[in-house]
Amino acid sequence: MSELRTVGKRVPRVDARAKVTGTAVFAADFSLPGTLHGRIVRSTEPHARLVVIDTRRAAALPGVRAVITAADIPDVRYGGALKDETVFANDRVRYVGQPIAALAATSQAAAEAAAAAIEVRYEPLPAVFDVEAAMAPGAPLLHPDWETYTAIPLLKREGNVCNRARIVAGDVERGFEEADRIFEHRYTTAMVHQGYTEARAALASWDGSGQLTVWSNTQLPFEVQNTLAEILQVPPGKIRVVVTAIGGGFGGKLRVGVEHFAALLAKKAGRPVKILTTTEEELVASYPRQSTVIDLRTGVTKDGRIVAKQGRIVFDTGAFAGSGPGVASVATLVLAGPYRIPNLLIEGLAIYTNKTNCGSYRAPSGPQASFAVESQMDEIADALGLDPLELRLRNIVRDGDEGPTGQVLSSVGLEECLERAAAAIGWGERRPAPGRGKGIACGWWTTTGGSSGVYVKLNADGSVALSTGAAEIGSAALTGAAQILAEELGIDVADITLVSADTFATPFDFGAQGSRTAFAVGNACRIAAAEVRRQLFALASRELGVSEDRLALGERHVSGGGERIALADLARIANQTGGGIIAHGTFIAPPTPYDEKRVEAHVYPAFHSPSFHAHAVDLSVDPETGDVEIHRYVVAQDVGRAINPTYIEGQIEGGVAQGLGQALSEEIVYRDGRVLNPNLTDYKMPTAVDVPRVESILVEHPSVVGPYGAKGVGEPPNIEPPAAVANAIAAATGVRIRSLPITAEKIVTREASACR
Ligand code: MOS
Repeated sequence: MSELRTVGKRVPRVDARAKVTGTAVFAADFSLPGTLHGRIVRSTEPHARLVVIDTRRAAALPGVRAVITAADIPDVRYGGALKDETVFANDRVRYVGQPIAALAATSQAAAEAAAAAIEVRYEPLPAVFDVEAAMAPGAPLLHPDWETYTAIPLLKREGNVCNRARIVAGDVERGFEEADRIFEHRYTTAMVHQGYTEARAALASWDGSGQLTVWSNTQLPFEVQNTLAEILQVPPGKIRVVVTAIGGGFGGKLRVGVEHFAALLAKKAGRPVKILTTTEEELVASYPRQSTVIDLRTGVTKDGRIVAKQGRIVFDTGAFAGSGPGVASVATLVLAGPYRIPNLLIEGLAIYTNKTNCGSYRAPSGPQASFAVESQMDEIADALGLDPLELRLRNIVRDGDEGPTGQVLSSVGLEECLERAAAAIGWGERRPAPGRGKGIACGWWTTTGGSSGVYVKLNADGSVALSTGAAEIGSAALTGAAQILAEELGIDVADITLVSADTFATPFDFGAQGSRTAFAVGNACRIAAAEVRRQLFALASRELGVSEDRLALGERHVSGGGERIALADLARIANQTGGGIIAHGTFIAPPTPYDEKRVEAHVYPAFHSPSFHAHAVDLSVDPETGDVEIHRYVVAQDVGRAINPTYIEGQIEGGVAQGLGQALSEEIVYRDGRVLNPNLTDYKMPTAVDVPRVESILVEHPSVVGPYGAKGVGEPPNIEPPAAVANAIAAATGVRIRSLPITAEKIVTREASACR
C-alpha cells in the first residue's frame, strides 16, 4: 500500500479536548428549564404476586408532579429476540429491583419521599435462584404464558429455557472413541457489571406537536427510538433520540434503560423529566453479564490433537430474556474455541431465574466461555505432559481452515499472536520462582455486521462535515472513521467536523456495539468519499476546463492540466449553483457463508472478519494470603490493520482492566434473590492502582472486508484475561480454580480444585 497520510497514524481523537477539559456534556449533566427529577420504585420481592400498589399518598405529597404504574400506560410486551418485558410489573414481580412504579417531582428529595410513600403488598411465589433449579422438572415457571410471547421464530424455547442454541459437526461419539484421553470439567463464572463510570441517564421532553425528544447516553439511538415507539405507541417519526457524550457503555446501554420511564413521566407531568440511576440501582437492576455454568468434555490423542468436544454453557439470564438468547448462541462459537475440531456438539442455553435481567457486556459470552476452554487446554496440556503453548499451536485454526460452523477462515493471525505474546512474556521460563508463574490464553471474536450510513458534506471553507448515526461511546472509533474519511479526501482529521447519533439529523446506524463502529462507519465513509470526489471532479472539470480523468485530489484542492482550484472555492460555487457537495455512503458487511446444517437456534451463526488474540501474564501468588500480584501483562491482537494504534492500545488496556476484575474480584453476590453487595465498596472493581501496565502488540493480518484491512478491536481484549490469569495462578501454585472470580480465599482454601 502506498504511503498513507492519516490511516495508521496516532492522531489525537476528535473529542479529546472536550473530554479532558470537562466541556463535553454527558447525559448526567444535561438539563432543560423546569426539568423534574424522576425516580423508579422497585420490587423488594424476588417472586411474588403484586396484590396492592397504592400511589395515592405519594401523589399528594408536595412537589410531586406525576406518578405512574402499569395501570397508566399502554399494555405492551416488548423486547429483542423475545418480547417478554413490560415497563412495570403488573400482576407479578419477578426479581428484586423490577420497576413497579415511577414518579417525578420538583426535587430529588421530594421524589425520594414520594417513592417511600408508595404502599405495596406482595404475596410471595416459589422462586428459582439458579439455573439448575430452573431447569429441574416441575420448577416454578417465571413466565407461565411463555408460549404466547412473540419471538423470532428460530429460538428454541421450553418453560424456563428461553433459547437452546446448538452446533453439531461430525460425529462427537465416534470422535470420543478415537480419543486416547477424555477430559471432563465443570467451570462456573459470576454475574458482573460493565462498570461504566456514568450511570444510565436520560432526559425526555415533549413539545406542543406531540414530538418527543430524548437526550440519552445510549449506545443505540435507533434501537431506543424503536423501542420507545413500541412502548409509547407513538410512531418512530415522532421520536427524536439524541446521544450526549457517554461515560462508557460496554454493552450495558444497548437497550432502553431509563429513557422510557422519563418519556412516560414527562408526558404525564407536561414537563421535561430527567432520570439518573444510582449505584445501587446499577448493581441490583441493570443489564449485567450473565453468570454461567459450563461443562466441557474434550477428547484428545496422545500427541495432543483434539478429536472431539462436547460442551454446554448455561447462562442465567434473569427474569427476562434480554440479550440472553443471542448471547447463548454466540457462546457456542467461543466454546468451540479457535481450534480445528472434527467432531463437535456444543450447546448454549439461556435460562430464566428470579434475578435481574442480564444483558450484554463487551464480547458477550466471551470471557465466560474462554475461561472454560482455555483453562481446560492447560489442564489437558499438563495431563499429557505437553507445553500449553505447544498444545495450542498443534490445534489452532489457520488460513483456509473451517470454523465450527463451517465458515472458511482467512487472514488468521492467531499463530503470530501466540508466538509473539509468548516471546514477549518469556515463555521459556514458565515458573521462574516458587509462587510465580506464567499463563497464556488465546481466542477469536467477531466484527459485528449491521448497516451504517453517513452523510459527507463539503463546508464553505473546504472542510468536511461527517454525519453518522453511530455514537462515540468512548473508544475513539469515530476518530478512526474520520481518519479513513480524511485519508480518502486528502485532508486532515482536524478538517472534519462530526455530528453523530441523532435519529432525526443523522442516517441510520446499527449502533456503537459489537466492535463494529470504525469498521462499518469507516467503510461507509470510503463509499461517501468516492461520491464526494466524483462531484468535486465534475464541478472542477467545468470550472477549470480540464477533463475529469486528468484531475486529482490534493491537499484541500483539485488540480490537473496545470490548473488548480481550492475545495473552498468548489464548495462556494456548488452552494450557489447546485445545493452544495453532499454525499450519502452506506455499508453493510457481506454475509459470511457457513453450513446451515450444523447450527440450530443460532442468532449469530458465524464470525464476520474475525479477530484473533493471545494474552500472556506473569504473576506471583502470596502463599499466606492468596493475594495475586501481576508483574507483566502482554496482549498480542490481530487487528487486521491498526487505523490508530494509540486508541487500539487504549481499548486493549481498558478491556484487560475489566477482564482482570472479572478474573480476580468482581461478583454481584446474590443470596435468596437479593444482592448482598450493591455498592462499590463491596463490589470490587479494580482501580488504577490494581491494574498493571499492559503491553500491546498489534498484529496485522488484513481483513478482506474491513476498511484498509481493519478488524473489530474493541471487545476482544476483554475475553482472555480470566483464562490467562487462571492458568498463571495454576502454574504458580499448582492450584486450579475453576470458578470466577479467583479470589484470594479460593486460592488459599484450594476451593474448586478437588478434581485435580
Ligand atoms: Mo457491545 S456488548 O456489543 O456494546
